[in-house]
Amino acid sequence: MVLEWDAKLETGLDLIDDQHRELYRLVKLVLDPGTETRVEDTIKFLENYVVRHFTDEESLQVASQYPGLPEHKEIHTGFIKSFLDLKAQLAAAESDEEREIAIQALNGAVVNWLGNHIKIHDRHFAEWFKGPQEWLEALSISPEGPGEGQ
Ligand SMILES: [Fe+2]
Ligand SMILES: [Fe+2]
Repeated sequence: MVLEWDAKLETGLDLIDDQHRELYRLVKLVLDPGTETRVEDTIKFLENYVVRHFTDEESLQVASQYPGLPEHKEIHTGFIKSFLDLKAQLAAAESDEEREIAIQALNGAVVNWLGNHIKIHDRHFAEWFKGPQEWLEALSISPEGPGEGQ
């Protein structure tokens, strides 16, 4: 199971979309790390990137006073917990077969979770975030406040 990027994953917020694309690239790397990289290193990198992405996304939600922040944050935290459990399962694998099962489980969990989370929760936030901006533009009001001479 490999993630493929598609238009339904676009939120329209550049920072978020760029980070989501990078997450997809990293997930693919876990399955096919190439000769230079160890799976564990890729997973560690993915974990750090996920945490950074969640932090950036939540900061945007704090800054824009998104009412869904507590729920969204809880979902992020739940994902990190499952991710760490699966990482521990990989570390505890005692044979190549167990290792392969753990890698597939991790990949499947990330693929399913990430796609669903972006399409539902992240897009919900993005729509909400863009809403006020569009209203301000329609009313010709700068988000920084009225300009000179007004
Ligand atoms: Fe999110
Ligand atoms: Fe996200």
